[in-house]
Amino acid sequence: MAPSATIIETESITVLHDDLSHIRFASTLQFYLNGELQTVRDPDPEGTLLDYIRSEAGLTGTKLGCSEGGCGACTITVAHYDEIKNKITYEAMNSCIIPLIAVEGKHLITVEGIGSTNNPHPVQERIAKYHGSQCGFCTPGIVMSMYSLLREKNGHVSKELISEALDGNLCRCTGYMPIIQACNSFAYDSDNYNKAQLKPGSVTACSKGADCCQNKKNGAKAEPEVEKVEVCARGDSCCKNKTIEANGVAESEASGSTHDPSNEIDVNALFTPNGLPLKPYNPKDDLVFPAKLTNYKLKPIFYGNEHKVWFRPTTKQELLEIVASYPQCKIVSGASEVQVEIKMKAADYNVSIFVNDIAELRTWEYIEGKGLLVGANISVSELEYIGEDLAEKLGKHTKGQVFEHMTTQLKYFAGRQIRNAASPAGNIVTASPISDLNPVLVACGAIVTYEQLDPTGKVISGELNMNDFFIGYRKHRLPQGAIVTSIFIPETRPNEFIHSYKQSKRKDDDIAIVTACIRVKLDSEGLVEDSTLAYGGMAAMTVQSKQTQEAIKGMSIFDPSFLEIAVDNLDKDYPLGFGVPGGMATYRRTLTFSFFYKFWQYMLAGFNSSHPSAKALLEVDSNAKVTRNKPEGWRDLETPFEYEVVGKSNPHLSAMKQVSGEAVYTDDIPPQHKEIFGVQVLSTKAHAKVLSVDYTDALTVETVVGYIDIDDLPNKEANLWGPLPFGKEQFFSDGEVFVVGQTIGVVFATNKERAAEASRLVRVEYEELPAIISVEDAVAQESFFPDSRITELGDWESAFKNSKHFFEGTIRFGAQEHFYFETQGCLVIPEEDGEIKVYASTQNPTETQEYAAQVTGVAAHKVVTRVKRLGGGFGGKETRSVQLSSLACVAAKKFNRPVRMSLSRYEDMLTSGQRHPFLMKYRVSLDEDLKFTGLDTTLYANGGWSMDLTRGVIDRAVFHACNCYYFPNVRVAGIPCKTNTASNTAYRGFGGPQGMYLAEGMLVEVAEKLGVDPDVIRQKNYFTANTGQITPYKQKVDDDISVRDIVKQNWEEANYDQLRKDVEDFNAKSKWIKRGLAHVPTMFGVSFGVKFLNQAGALVHIYHDGSVLVSHGGVEIGQGLYTKMTMIAAQELGVPIEKVFISETSTQVVPNTSATAASAASDLNGMAIANACEKLNERLKPIREQLGPDATFDEVISTAYHERISLSATGFYKTPDIGYLFGDPDPAPAFFYFTQGSAICQVEVDTLTGDWSCLEAHIKMDIGRPINQAIDYGQIEGAFVQGMGLFTMEQSLWFRHNGALFTRGPGNYKIPGFRDVPQKFRVSMLKDRDFKHLKTIKSSKGIGEPPLFLGSCVQFAIRNAISYARRDNGYVKGAAGLPVQSPLTSERIRASIGDMLVKKGLVVPKNENERDFFIEA
Ligand SMILES: Cc1cc2nc3c(=O)[nH]c(=O)nc-3n(C[C@H](O)[C@H](O)[C@H](O)COP(=O)(O)OP(=O)(O)OC[C@H]3O[C@@H](n4cnc5c(N)ncnc54)[C@H](O)[C@@H]3O)c2cc1C
Ligand code: FES
Ligand code: FES
Repeated sequence: MAPSATIIETESITVLHDDLSHIRFASTLQFYLNGELQTVRDPDPEGTLLDYIRSEAGLTGTKLGCSEGGCGACTITVAHYDEIKNKITYEAMNSCIIPLIAVEGKHLITVEGIGSTNNPHPVQERIAKYHGSQCGFCTPGIVMSMYSLLREKNGHVSKELISEALDGNLCRCTGYMPIIQACNSFAYDSDNYNKAQLKPGSVTACSKGADCCQNKKNGAKAEPEVEKVEVCARGDSCCKNKTIEANGVAESEASGSTHDPSNEIDVNALFTPNGLPLKPYNPKDDLVFPAKLTNYKLKPIFYGNEHKVWFRPTTKQELLEIVASYPQCKIVSGASEVQVEIKMKAADYNVSIFVNDIAELRTWEYIEGKGLLVGANISVSELEYIGEDLAEKLGKHTKGQVFEHMTTQLKYFAGRQIRNAASPAGNIVTASPISDLNPVLVACGAIVTYEQLDPTGKVISGELNMNDFFIGYRKHRLPQGAIVTSIFIPETRPNEFIHSYKQSKRKDDDIAIVTACIRVKLDSEGLVEDSTLAYGGMAAMTVQSKQTQEAIKGMSIFDPSFLEIAVDNLDKDYPLGFGVPGGMATYRRTLTFSFFYKFWQYMLAGFNSSHPSAKALLEVDSNAKVTRNKPEGWRDLETPFEYEVVGKSNPHLSAMKQVSGEAVYTDDIPPQHKEIFGVQVLSTKAHAKVLSVDYTDALTVETVVGYIDIDDLPNKEANLWGPLPFGKEQFFSDGEVFVVGQTIGVVFATNKERAAEASRLVRVEYEELPAIISVEDAVAQESFFPDSRITELGDWESAFKNSKHFFEGTIRFGAQEHFYFETQGCLVIPEEDGEIKVYASTQNPTETQEYAAQVTGVAAHKVVTRVKRLGGGFGGKETRSVQLSSLACVAAKKFNRPVRMSLSRYEDMLTSGQRHPFLMKYRVSLDEDLKFTGLDTTLYANGGWSMDLTRGVIDRAVFHACNCYYFPNVRVAGIPCKTNTASNTAYRGFGGPQGMYLAEGMLVEVAEKLGVDPDVIRQKNYFTANTGQITPYKQKVDDDISVRDIVKQNWEEANYDQLRKDVEDFNAKSKWIKRGLAHVPTMFGVSFGVKFLNQAGALVHIYHDGSVLVSHGGVEIGQGLYTKMTMIAAQELGVPIEKVFISETSTQVVPNTSATAASAASDLNGMAIANACEKLNERLKPIREQLGPDATFDEVISTAYHERISLSATGFYKTPDIGYLFGDPDPAPAFFYFTQGSAICQVEVDTLTGDWSCLEAHIKMDIGRPINQAIDYGQIEGAFVQGMGLFTMEQSLWFRHNGALFTRGPGNYKIPGFRDVPQKFRVSMLKDRDFKHLKTIKSSKGIGEPPLFLGSCVQFAIRNAISYARRDNGYVKGAAGLPVQSPLTSERIRASIGDMLVKKGLVVPKNENERDFFIEA
């Protein structure tokens, strides 16, 4: 008899456990959203707060940038009445991370809640009017971070507070400066602080001054005094600063304050920027806190569905009971680990408990003479403030040391939004090896208290010393089922020293490479009694340096061998191998030494700096940090070329919509009837045969509608796309995959989460094939596309033989991720007769249309692409968007339903390609006068697995390989390499930066080897206009070439010679902190490399009311194109700008458009619009003559309409005179003109750690006669900062073992943040030229790409600082001989210093099989 199947009854998670039946759980969530009560009866347990805001509430102002808390685009304000602090608290949080349950009983404020285009909040107004919004996708998040701060501080904000508040926000467009300026206009320590308007007697906010009662409580930071304005040291919390709120309920009443509310600060005086027509900020005008919430009573909550349930206990006891009832539950506090695990690792926590509302877990107490006892789930921000206050109170160098260094560590822990939500318990329990807090807790011997219920229901508790809490990778000693309830942090004892350290790729909001806290207890003679050297980033968990601790025990810190012995033992404690997971073996080991060295110096100075041995051992600057002053920007706003409209610095026309969240991006388009969402099945192999694909399981997932793959195309040819006959890409894999992330198929469901779940169920069998990732391997294996490009001039081989100097070398240029804020996305709607409407985030509407037609088998006239605006593109949406929209079109046709696709940041970075990495080999010669005589260079570009735009990128690299220098004999060759990475593509500069890096890198290498200043060589070799010189591609060096003038002006205005002297003086006195100075010029050719693309069309309608609708082929990516085009139309027609409107870019209105790229969009489309306006003006001429000069435009138009004159005209433009062809002996010019510039940068480098900052940047550009100077300056600053990231910190890495991209989100890939901006950022334009030679629209110049290369100046300045350091270390020729490679990361900086510590840390491969863990493409 066959055994009968046993049916196991699994209890539904939606049924409450019997043991909890005595708790009265509510199942409805209630909170306020922008002042309105929300009652959510059936909350989606799987969604985040952002999902609710965007999908349920339909408020699309809050954006999704990354889903991992790393970009700040989703920032909202959460306000709640905090019983512990007895005040209303306003906190910025990442809505992509926190669950909906977190806002129960609170006031959720989104960007729409604080203002609108008609009535913007002062933060919104200022960011818009200070030009702080370009693409606008980051803007709502930034607005909300600033708003949260203003609310929390009741308007009393300093520049320091602002800078801290913005450390969790990123922006890829603006270069941050205008945002900083807009936000700083609220700061009481800024220049905008309007002292003149202070009311007499309004000088003291709190009559008790520093003795304000609020100072004594909870320890927030004391605000600095501002001139005569004594802001209460408690700042925001001062009882005087409470705002009267709704229904007569005052926050001051809520706080129970007894202070006299007279003598309030005059808000108008404080917050009205001098001379700007902006609203003052008055906290009393802000959205009121709902009165009902001040009386909100916490209630236990339980809700969910079969997939997931949520609990929200209100007491510790309830929490313990729930945990006991559901042993597999997941405790969720700030969710900054848990949510990342859910989103990125598909973790499934079906019983979750939100603990952040349990007051017992969030209290704190300072126990006199002992230390700090904090609730386990207090927020990291709160812990930071408490620590700061305690350090102040107990002494930063005595008892409060531990708090001082805990706070320092926490200040650089994530961004403010994460710190506001995350908890120390979350950090401890996660047990991450790179935690920043854990080393502090381990070093100081903090005690963790935990509790749990025993089987009888009795609470049992225990204590664990953090000293031995961790036992392995993400493993600890906390008993199963226990909750952490509190952490005790002992204060520092006499003769005890403690200090924390952290080094990461970016200073702000970055996880550590190595993080440490070192504690040493000395006896009265300076002998080590005991110590803890806790390091993170050196092993699978936070570890102690046991051998070193043992070795230094009993040693005198004055013993000259103390350091050597410690370093020798650290060397043994951390014997990392070359291929260690995470890479950077030498750097990580060296950092452990550097940190210890700093600590030893700190201890020597602190213990007894006047001890004779200490004097001998102490270095002046060993504990110095690199200067990080608050950035100050300056723009030269002289406007010599101003017309009625053109030439004015109007803000971006969408700016007000962007700051208020009203601007609509592709994914903000409301859901369509029967819409489905697609998630791709992506290959997991870098190169493999696909043996089978089984998607049957995927189809069983609820709400799944179907699956598409290559079989759904009209024919196999329709599967191929790309601009050339070879190297084409496939929409769907066809039996073989060539890259991790190639599309195999797509699953569609009505629910996004279910589509993602189903896509993971598709089973693919592979047979792996050899893969190539790096350009070096491609060259070695001759893996090339058949497409070399060569330019030649003169006889370089003879030049090499006959010249005084000859050098050869290799230069390496790494990839760069676009990191546009809005990821790739589209919405496709099928319509009658096979028509297809495509809304896409694309720079290339026509190509989108072309391939939509191809994959659906319809003619192009039945496809319309519509684009309103993009949240950034930078070239990454010039072709790469086509893949996604084409897939969606296939599905729209197959299922006959609207299809939406929107990539997660992970998918986007994996699939969309990057800036091309290059390997460049050169041979160069110079004569005795240091003039270049010959150059032969070959540029190998990593094209990825398909050609895409690689030919164009190589062409431009070839054209720019000499930058602005004259070489009489030259050969430049470009070769595209085929590898198994995503297809690399267009990126701001399009090969130009790579080419110019060859020129400048080579020049610097030559100068270093010759021992001369690089600028001596530059001066001798700059192109000189009208002297008969030609470029290697035979273009005449004519009137347009202004490099010499730009450099001269910039040099003088920056006072370069004095800067050099200052740097020399500084370095002579400073051992470890070194300064560096560099200058870099740029000369960027403007025109598409392919002749036919240099054309544009426009359509201008004038309606009979006199309003003007302009359409053109360019896409608004954030670069201000629509603003400039509107200005041109207004100028040409002689109407105010308000009369002109541009709605969108549509292939139905202006056909056959070129991609918006090559810095040529304003030139081409502007000319086309001018052409249309010219036609209209011609037609209107008789009417104008008839009505006379006093007739208004409206009268002219009305009359023309009644006279039956056509008020609609098309315009067209094609760039004249250009059309370079490779191989043509007498070619036409490649470029219509050149946009040129110069940058001078000074940096400061901590040579012990590789940390650096940019002290100043002076940028001067030749931008012709700008159409809108403010927009152009925005492009310059944004491009410079993007370039700075490219050349210093942005490093794309692939796993060596499987060829998958590792750097796939803001967590692993670091773009510059707010605090990386040059601290003195000066931008100006070339003066004293008339630009009559320019035949462009209004003699303006394209500006989008040209300034990007100037960011390399920061790298060369760092190299200069390295030179100084190396000379101190015995390398007489400084940096000579060091590789020229980009990016110059903190790791590479540290490795270059040449001191004893790095020599000791050096790790080399044991054999040829031992390779680095990561690989650069
Ligand atoms: C963008 C970003 C940046 C980050 N940067 C840093 C950084 O610079 N430095 C750094 O160290 N970390 C960083 N982190 C990691 C993370 O923020 C911290 O580990 C944080 O402290 C986790 O706290 P949480 O409250 O959000 O934990 P959660 O995600 O809520 O929980 C984490 C774990 O702790 C458990 N847990 C929480 N509370 C308790 C409790 N009371 N008892 C028992 N278990 C509990 C949870 O069950 C879970 O297993 C970053 C994270 C993100 C998303
Ligand atoms: S989307 Fe939330 S931080 Fe990036
Ligand atoms: S304006 Fe900040 S990302 Fe575009």
